[in-house]
Amino acid sequence: MTEIRTKIQKPQGKLGVMIVGLGAVSTTFVAGVLASLRGLARPFGSLTQMGTIRLGKRTEHKSPLVKDFVPLANMEDLVFGAWDIFADDAYTSAVNAGVLEKNQIEDLKEDLQVLRPWKAVFDKNYVRRLDGTHAKQAKTKWDLAQQLTEDILRFKDEKKCDRLNMIWCASTEAYRQPAAVHASLESFEKGLKENDPNIAPSMIYAYAALKLGIPFANGAPNLTVDTPALQTLAIETAAPISGKDFKTGQTLMKTIIAPGLRARLLGINGWFSSNILGNRDGEVLDDPENFKTKEESKLSVLDTILQPELQPELYGNLYHKVRINYYPPRGDNKESWDNIDLFGWLGYPMQLKINFLCRDSILAAPIVLDLVLLMDLAKRAGMKGVQEWLSFYYKSPMVAEGLYPEHNLFIQQMKLKNTLRHMMGEEPITHLGTEYYE
Ligand SMILES: NC(=O)c1ccc[n+]([C@@H]2O[C@H](COP(=O)([O-])OP(=O)(O)OC[C@H]3O[C@@H](n4cnc5c(N)ncnc54)[C@H](O)[C@@H]3O)[C@@H](O)[C@H]2O)c1
Repeated sequence: MTEIRTKIQKPQGKLGVMIVGLGAVSTTFVAGVLASLRGLARPFGSLTQMGTIRLGKRTEHKSPLVKDFVPLANMEDLVFGAWDIFADDAYTSAVNAGVLEKNQIEDLKEDLQVLRPWKAVFDKNYVRRLDGTHAKQAKTKWDLAQQLTEDILRFKDEKKCDRLNMIWCASTEAYRQPAAVHASLESFEKGLKENDPNIAPSMIYAYAALKLGIPFANGAPNLTVDTPALQTLAIETAAPISGKDFKTGQTLMKTIIAPGLRARLLGINGWFSSNILGNRDGEVLDDPENFKTKEESKLSVLDTILQPELQPELYGNLYHKVRINYYPPRGDNKESWDNIDLFGWLGYPMQLKINFLCRDSILAAPIVLDLVLLMDLAKRAGMKGVQEWLSFYYKSPMVAEGLYPEHNLFIQQMKLKNTLRHMMGEEPITHLGTEYYE
C-alpha cells in the first residue's frame, strides 16, 4: 500500500455541481453523465473515467485507472444545478443546442427536465448579442452576489449536498483588462457595492462561490478569477480555482501539432486558422468585443510553445492569424482549417493543412466532467488558489504571477499525472529510464 502523501478527505455523500450557463456544453455534459450512468453510452474523452496512470517502473506493468488510483467522487454522486438567462430546462436547451441526437435526448427527457435554471446575473454590456429575460434584479452587484449565495445554500440544502463545485459554461464575455477594482479584495468588494462597470457577471458568480470556499473553474476566456482580488479570496477561503477557456477543437490540435514541429526544429513563418460554427457561442463571438476575448486566448498558445525568443530564426517572423466565422447552418459541428507554412533543412518550404470537422461540445463535455471531479479532489486535498496542474484542460492556463503558462499538451499531461502521483505518495515519472541499463 502506498502511503498517501497529501491528506485527502474521502469523497463521501453528494457533490453538487453548479453550472453557470445551461447551453450546448452544459447540457451535453449533464446528458452524457446521465447516459453513462444508465449504460446507454460511454464517457469517451474523459481522463478521470477512462484514463490510466502508470506507476513505478515500466517493468512493473502497473497502470491502474485514474479513478481507481485517486479518491474521486463517483458520477452517481453528482447532482446538478444551473443558472441561465433563459428559463428553458435542460431538456429544451439540449434540443435547441442540437448537439445530441433527438432520440438520445428523448431517452433522458425526464431527468433533464428537472434541471431548471435559476435566474441569472446578467449584464448586456458583457454579451450584447443576447437578450436574457430570466435574470435577477438588484440595486447593486453586491446584492446580486448575495442572491447567488442564497441560491447556492438553498441548492445545498435541498439536494443534501456534502460538497459543492461551480463551473462557468456560460457565454464568453466582452474583453476586459484587469483594472484597479480587481487589484485587491477590498477594492473588489467596494466595487461590488458601487456597481463598478469593470465587474463582470462571471466575477460576481465566482465571488459568491469563493466566499463560501467553493471551487470555481472557468471554461470561457473571460478574466473572471484571473485577478489578484479573487485569487486572494480563493486563498483566504481555501478554494481551488482554475481556468481559462476549455481546450477543444482547433486549439487542441494546435497544442498537439506545434510541440512536435518545435521538437524537430522545423521553422514556421505562417499559421492561419479559420473556423466556421453556428451555435449560440458562435453568435456571441460574432461580436468583435466578445471575439477579442477569445482571440487573445487562442493567439497566446503558439508563442509559449514555440518560444520565438529562444529560436528567433525559426519562429521570430511567425504570422499567426485566427478567424472565427458565425455560420448558422453548421450548428455545433464546427469546422476548422489551418494552413501552416513551415520550413526545414536549408530553409526549404513545406505546407501542412489541417481540416478538423469536430463537434465542439462533444470535445468540451468530458473536460467539464474531469474538471468538476479534479477540482473537488483538489479541495478535499487542501489545495487552494490557482491549480496550474489542470492546464491540460485549458486554452489559456492560469499560472502564478511571473510564470509563463505551459501550453504543450504533453507537458501538461505529465504535470497532471505527476501531481496525482505526488498526492498519492508515488514517485513522479521523469522518463529518464537509466535504471533499465544499469
Ligand atoms: N464548446 C467548446 O468546445 C468550448 C470550448 C472552449 C470554451 N467554450 C466556452 O464555453 C462557453 C459555453 O459554450 P456553449 O457552446 O455551451 O455556449 P452556449 O451559447 O450554447 O451556452 C452558453 C449559455 O450561457 C448562457 N448565459 C450567458 N450569459 C449568462 C450569464 N451571465 N449567466 C448565466 N447564463 C448565461 C446563455 O444563455 C447560454 O444558454 C462559451 O463561453 C464558450 O466560449 C466552449
